Parts: sequence; C-alpha cells; structure tokens
Amino acid sequence: MEKVTVLEEQFQARIDADERIEPKDWMPEKYRKTLIRQISQHAHSEIVGMLPEGNWVTRAPNLRRKVALLAKVQDEAGHGLYLYSACETLGIDREELLDQLHSGKAKYSSIFNYPTLSWADMGAIGWLVDGAAIMNQVPLCRTSYGPYARAMVRVCKEESFHQRQGYEIMLTLSRGNEAQKEMAQDALNRWWWPSLMMFGPADDESPNTAQSMAWRIKRFTNDELRQRFVDATVPQAEFLGLTIPDPDLKWNEETGQYDFGAIDWNEFWNVVKGNGPCNRERLRARRKAHDEGAWVRDAAMAYAEKRRQRTEAAREEVA
Ligand code: 3HC
Repeated sequence: MEKVTVLEEQFQARIDADERIEPKDWMPEKYRKTLIRQISQHAHSEIVGMLPEGNWVTRAPNLRRKVALLAKVQDEAGHGLYLYSACETLGIDREELLDQLHSGKAKYSSIFNYPTLSWADMGAIGWLVDGAAIMNQVPLCRTSYGPYARAMVRVCKEESFHQRQGYEIMLTLSRGNEAQKEMAQDALNRWWWPSLMMFGPADDESPNTAQSMAWRIKRFTNDELRQRFVDATVPQAEFLGLTIPDPDLKWNEETGQYDFGAIDWNEFWNVVKGNGPCNRERLRARRKAHDEGAWVRDAAMAYAEKRRQRTEAAREEVA
C-alpha cells in the first residue's frame, strides 16, 4: 500500500470539499500527468475533428448550411486552442503536445477516424457526435482543475449550437423525399455505434476512471454518460422517424432506461490503435497543415521578438 503523504491527504481533502485546483497549487504528480493526458487528447480531438466536416464545406447544399458548417469548424479550432492553453498551465509546451499528435504517439477521439460519405453525415455528426460531446463535456465544467473547467464553460455554449444545427439537417432530410430519408438513415447507421464508443471503454475495462472519479476530474463514469446519451437520443431518432441500428435496443420499465446491444470493443480498440478507416489520412492532413502553417508561426515569433526588443530599448531610454 503506497504511503500517503500529508500533502496528498491535504490535496484529497480539498478535492473532497469540491475546491478548484489551480496551476500554482500543489498537486500529486499523477494528478498533473493524467490531466495532461486527458486535456491534450481532448485538444487533439477538437483539431482533428475539424477534418471530417471540413471535407463538406465546399459541398454544402446552400449558403445557410455552408455558413453554419464553417462556423462550427472554426469553433472546433477555438476549442482546441482553449484546451491546449489549459494544458500548458500544467507545465507542458504546446510544441511538445503537437509533436506527440503528429508522431502518432498521442490519442484523439476514435470518432474522427470514420469517413464522411454524404451530406447527411454533417447532420449525424452534429446531432450524435456533438450530442455525445455535450453529454461528456457538461460535467467537465465542474472538473476539479480550474483552467479545464473554465475552458469547458465556453466550449459547451458553442457545442449546443453544433448539436442543434446537426439535428436540423437530419430533420430536413427525414422530412424530405425517399432518397433524402435513406441518406439520413444511412448516416445514422454508420455513426450510431462509433458515437457510443466516444465515451470510452466499459467502466470495468477503464484503467483511469476510478482515479479520475476520486480526483473529481470525472464527475460520472464512461458507462453512466453513455447511458444518459442513449436515453436522450433514442426519442430524438423516433421524432425523426429513423431507426437506431440496434435490434437489442428496448425501453426497460424497471430501470427507466434503454437497454442496448453489445458494443464491438474489437472495433473500438482497433481504431484507437490506429487501424481505423481514416487514421492515417487524418494524421497526414494534420502534419501537412502544420508544415504549411510554419510561416505563420515564424512571422508571429519574429513580430513578438521585434516588440520585445522595442520595449527593451524604450525601457533603457527611460532608465
Ligand atoms: N478514442 C480514443 N481513445 C480513447 C477513447 C476514444 N473514444 N476512449 C478512451 N480512450 C483511451 C483513453 O485515452 C485511455 O488511453 P490512455 O490511458 O492512453 O490515455 C484508454 O482508452 C482507456 O480509457 P479510459 O476510459 O480509462 O480513459 P479516460 O478516463 O481518459 O476516459 C474519455 C476517456 C471519456 C474520453 C476521457 O478522456 C474524457 O472525458 N475526455 C474529455 C472529453 C474528450 O476528449 N472527448 C473527445 C471528443 S471531443 C469532441 O467530440 C469535440 C466535439 O466538438 C465534437
């Protein structure tokens, strides 16, 4: 049994009292490390998550849909920036985080390794993927680490618009002609199970959940949030007149929740390990964007250096 130090006892007492931990506070090294792990993966997910939708901006059916999709993709970039900034407060450098992503060492959400095959996928992603993200991110507004919680407040406000615009696309298609209805159903068929996988492995398979719950990084477990998502989303699919692709899905009067079928965890771990349909394409796109953006970073650094020199010269003049 590891010896608990006085500092660790005091830290846990702060967590149990629902106090916020701030960057300058003492924290166990493992607490800091698991936050860097989770927040960096969250940030990477936001940035990689721009790619599947970016693929449809030029093919949106009208200007209104194009503007909404453009706004959503730009929001995701901003979410990534908030989260990288929150992660940097833990003493890690952004360049290092990006190297971890580009080298394939870092994880990002499995969901973004699936292809977007039709316009209906923009609806399914907004409705299901951002819907699942909201289910997972609202509790994170109360996570014990201050900068992460504050970043989540802004992110969640924007996510609700993302989910609504996606659901509106699905509603328009499901009230359209036969071909449009089929397109919406096909997108639901392809995005339903990967959306359930977003919540992570089952609780009894999760190496991080118990500790993250004890440190109030997580407020609910993976399975609890997954269940909430299913219970909230099934009625929405019924309203659309679409069928959830799970023959075992059925309302359980006793629990007041939906029972649902088994998740294909082989598929999940296969995608997490880098063998999903689009993993290589996503990393290639991110590396290319990073390389092509080098001139912007160089210009910003050169400007910052010039400003520093000017400020220093002005100080010397006054002194
Ligand atoms: N994709 C990829 N890896 C996943 C995963 C997924 N969907 N779910 C779990 N994993 C990984 C974990 O990172 C962990 O690996 P690691 O120890 O090497 O980091 C391993 O599988 C075991 O999973 P755990 O459940 O033990 O890990 P966590 O306690 O970290 O829980 C999580 C996983 C629920 C995703 C948690 O990290 C979390 O809540 N993260 C913050 C939210 C987030 O990152 N969401 C991703 C989507 S962001 C998004 O959707 C943007 C929106 O705008 C569309």
